[in-house]
Amino acid sequence: MQQEAIQEITQAPTLEALQQVKTKYVGKSGLVTKELGALGKLPPEERRARGAEINVVRQAIDAALQEREGILKRAALDEKLASEAIDVTLPGLPLPAGGLHPITRVYDDLIGIYQRMGYEVVEGPEVEGEHHNFEALNIPWYHPARDLQDTFWLEDGRLLRTHTSNMQIRYMVEHDPPLKMVSRGKVYRYEATDATHESMFHQLEGLVVGEGISMADLKGTIAEMARGLYGPTAQVRFQPSYYPFVEPGADFAVYWNNPRGESKWLELGGCGMVHPNVFRAVDDLREAAGRDRIYEGMTGFAFGLGPERIAMLKYKIPDIRYFYANDPRVIGQFRGEL
Ligand code: PHE
Repeated sequence: MQQEAIQEITQAPTLEALQQVKTKYVGKSGLVTKELGALGKLPPEERRARGAEINVVRQAIDAALQEREGILKRAALDEKLASEAIDVTLPGLPLPAGGLHPITRVYDDLIGIYQRMGYEVVEGPEVEGEHHNFEALNIPWYHPARDLQDTFWLEDGRLLRTHTSNMQIRYMVEHDPPLKMVSRGKVYRYEATDATHESMFHQLEGLVVGEGISMADLKGTIAEMARGLYGPTAQVRFQPSYYPFVEPGADFAVYWNNPRGESKWLELGGCGMVHPNVFRAVDDLREAAGRDRIYEGMTGFAFGLGPERIAMLKYKIPDIRYFYANDPRVIGQFRGEL
């Protein structure tokens, strides 16, 4: 019996098969167990020798069972490890990471520069009344300047603001001088789009008002911005220009040398000394709102510029429409690095 049992044990292919062999021989009603049970029926003189004999068999079977179990368990574990193996050389799954839009980056640069100069940063409505977008900025309905800015009109007589200069008015109605503010946001013009024109784009408006603010302060401020953007050697140029809400008015450009050896004048925006009619219109609005007329007699300057122009040059983006087409081939280049 011992030989048979051991053969069956060493040949058991699986742990389940081994368990069956175990039951067959040493289970509750197994062959060895039965033999042991039968001992009682033997005469006492034979019992001892027979008992010892069966115990030897049983121990041999137990030892064989244990050994086989060990072998089968190890094999099962090996198989499991092999099937669950991780290939550490496989490339990982991509974790899509976003990034800041180039316009956001340029705004962050600009606003950082003005915050360091102590400006308050505000935003304002894109849907605006005619008064705040035009009238109060010294652009009456018959003024030719309205033709220069083609306007998206809403059915209720309001409009999409054509510039962020509406925030000059809104800010002065709410705040007393002296003040320094910049305002960022979207503006809209109803015009054909091409590589340098979009019907929606962005502006940064600046306004400084106080007693004795002069054109020299304006030039110094724009120069400071240019150095903040393009380094200490950046130069600025002012050319007389016309905007109804400033007098005198100017366009400003920055001359910059980039590390690739390109240098050019970059027309950045418009600026000028706040027109007295603008202060008067603000005081009218303040009076209507129960506030002091406080702006007449003040001086101040304002400027407005477009971050798109800066971003197109900085990031070598050849067409303004790329900014808003949400083409992953374009915006994907601005992933990760902030
Ligand atoms: N609002 C003008 C524009 O959109 C820019 C500007 C702002 C000019 C402030 C002068 C002063 O072109």
